[in-house]
Amino acid sequence: MAALLLGAVLLAVQPQMAPARPAGNPRTDDGPSASVQKELLRKTSLRDDAHPNGASQQLPQTIIIGVRKGGTRALLEMLSLHPAIAAAESEVHFFDWEDHYGNGLQWYARQMPFSYPHQLTVEKTPAYFTSSKVPARVYNMNRSIRLLLILRDPSERVLSDYTQVFYNHMQKRKPYPAVEEFLIKDGQLNVDYKAINRSLYYFHMQNWLRYFPLEHIHIVDGDRLIRDPFPEIEKVERFLKLSPQINASNFYFNKTKGFYCLRDSGRDRCLHESKGRAHPQVDPKLLNKLHEYFHEPNKKFFELVGRTFDWH
Ligand SMILES: *[C@@H]1O[C@H](CO)[C@@H](O)[C@H](O)[C@H]1NC(C)=O
Ligand SMILES: *[C@@H]1O[C@H](CO)[C@@H](O)[C@H](O)[C@H]1NC(C)=O
Ligand SMILES: *[C@@H]1O[C@H](CO)[C@@H](O)[C@H](O)[C@H]1NC(C)=O
Ligand SMILES: *[C@@H]1O[C@H](CO)[C@@H](O)[C@H](O)[C@H]1NC(C)=O
Repeated sequence: MAALLLGAVLLAVQPQMAPARPAGNPRTDDGPSASVQKELLRKTSLRDDAHPNGASQQLPQTIIIGVRKGGTRALLEMLSLHPAIAAAESEVHFFDWEDHYGNGLQWYARQMPFSYPHQLTVEKTPAYFTSSKVPARVYNMNRSIRLLLILRDPSERVLSDYTQVFYNHMQKRKPYPAVEEFLIKDGQLNVDYKAINRSLYYFHMQNWLRYFPLEHIHIVDGDRLIRDPFPEIEKVERFLKLSPQINASNFYFNKTKGFYCLRDSGRDRCLHESKGRAHPQVDPKLLNKLHEYFHEPNKKFFELVGRTFDWH
């Protein structure tokens, strides 16, 4: 998070700089994310406002709105395998941070990578999903925009949320309380814990459905994307009406890491090691309480979206 914040700060103070590769980008390599063509675009975008062959900075036609710890980075990286995708590298936080939103849509467009007319521009900011003011703002920009939402088991997401903050503190050599201190209050599950609230998917989804029809919000199953990415990515291609370009050979399983890495024009890359960290050991009784707590909210969510997920 600290690294991402730094990236955002750099963008804020240097708005004229194209954010092709801002600092604090949690990637494992510094190579191109998709094709050589895109790399050319990036190089060009670092020059002042050059528009070679009609490339320009577009407002996103699709946004990955969340959820935090749902697999948004993995989704963006995988989608970037497609040559018709131009992805913003850093989390822009345009719609949820007042100082960014106050800069206006032109500023937002300037945070986007250069793209060709046949390409779709995409950005991801996982905080959008749980921010109640964001849906109206996105609607005001483009009411027919297509949205991507990646979700995983809400209890797992809570632990992953905690784990990320825990590691951020560790890196700064700051102490951080055990997960139980957040999860329990007066012997009960502490439902005021923000990480628990963020996993109440139906609550946040309702806000989005006030502005967008369900058909314009594609939900990616984050648990499946990690286990077997290709079928989930195929569905995203179809939703975005992209030609089927990504194929199974773009993914290979890394046994050491325990999850899939990407193969892109013969280049291999895996997600940053901060992804897929082990969660803290939690007392099974407490874990059970979490599962029970989410039972009703999950049911409400399934009804809301007309689809079920394989969650506890
Ligand atoms: C709004 O979003 C739709 C769907 O992605 C896209 O086709 C259209 O070009 C967008 N409009 C603008 C003005 O960006
Ligand atoms: C979750 O948090 C929001 C504010 O962010 C609040 O309005 C809502 O009531 C909370 N939901 C529950 C069930 O506590
Ligand atoms: C998969 O895509 C790559 C390009 O990304 C291509 O070279 C390869 O032939 C494709 N494989 C199949 C089975 O379509
Ligand atoms: C697999 O993951 C390990 C551990 O992160 C890494 O050192 C190695 O380079 C990866 N191998 C491939 C082929 O991606």
